[in-house]
Amino acid sequence: MDTRVPFNDLKPVQSLLGEALEAAVRRVLASGWYVLGPELAAFETEFAAWHGVRHAVGVANGTDAVELALRALGAGPGDEVITVSHTAVATVCAVERTGATPVLVDVDPATFTMDPVAAAAAISPRTRALVPVHLYGHPADMTALADLAARHHLALVEDCAQAHGARWNGRLAGTMGQLGAFSFYPTKNLGAYGDAGAVITDDPQLAERLRRLRNYGQRDRYHHEEPGQNSRLDEMQAALLRVRLPHLAAHNAERRRLAGLYAERLERCAALGLPSSLPEAEHVFHLYVVRHGRRDELKEALAARGIQTLIHYPVPVHLQPAWAHLGLLPGALPETERAAREILSLPLYVGLTNADLALVADAAGACA
Ligand SMILES: Cc1ncc(COP(=O)(O)O)c(C=O)c1O
Repeated sequence: MDTRVPFNDLKPVQSLLGEALEAAVRRVLASGWYVLGPELAAFETEFAAWHGVRHAVGVANGTDAVELALRALGAGPGDEVITVSHTAVATVCAVERTGATPVLVDVDPATFTMDPVAAAAAISPRTRALVPVHLYGHPADMTALADLAARHHLALVEDCAQAHGARWNGRLAGTMGQLGAFSFYPTKNLGAYGDAGAVITDDPQLAERLRRLRNYGQRDRYHHEEPGQNSRLDEMQAALLRVRLPHLAAHNAERRRLAGLYAERLERCAALGLPSSLPEAEHVFHLYVVRHGRRDELKEALAARGIQTLIHYPVPVHLQPAWAHLGLLPGALPETERAAREILSLPLYVGLTNADLALVADAAGACA
């Protein structure tokens, strides 16, 4: 069957902003400066200002953003970092790359984000940090998690890879912990045209350390304070992100509008669990994820009608062979495992037409 509605399509935004994007590329090419130059400095200033924080540090991707945020806090071998299993594996890769041990906890079934009660139960004398993930665009319960972190003197690093511009009680994702880590992978709500990431913080010392760590630990040219790595956001991506950033709020609003249309068309379909948005949350719908008891059948029925869907994520991190060493067996994280069986991401992107959305919704409603 030919594809009638793709899961995602990045071309509509490209054609909307095409001229400005092309002008940015030409400007960088003509400048003769391609790494750690004026475009990155300008993007960092603009991204920090957008969030109302003092510092943004551009890095090579979102995985590095989480890793470097943790390393800037001093996390390393011997430490434990509490995060979730229901996430992109990148979150857990990043924790392990610091040398710390990831401690994976279950999620709240309503929001698919870190369950604060489970996080509290996982705290040990070695716990160094909490890394909640604002999955699908819905913030984790930052009231409970910030309180937990404060009571136990833990660092709080927000994984905002899927939540640019999301809010919790009016506060932007990334501004509630010590550090907020972002990915600008092309499909993200704020996407680059290759790999890119950033960390935001209000703390000048953490920002300074991040700037060193992303550039071989260098303080001044050829003077190295500590071992670092090469994780720089290049001038081309920075210039392209500067074109995209002023449109982020409008693009998020469009995602919310599309999610609202799905909800209207699907709310009477009792077999489908629709995404919930807590009253404290402003959801930015990076993904529109429904639940269904016979998810695989629904996915196949939609595919037969030319509708692409994806599963984020079909195998939880703790059940992947790569993380068998964490010692968590099937059944260890019941809500995470139930989510992996039931979830299905429907197409939602800037440029999805009302007609295509209606086609998907009516097919999902009919097949569920
Ligand atoms: C929740 C989450 N964290 C981290 C990352 C890693 O970002 P990147 O792919 O830019 O390394 C991603 C991206 O897939 C993500 O979705």
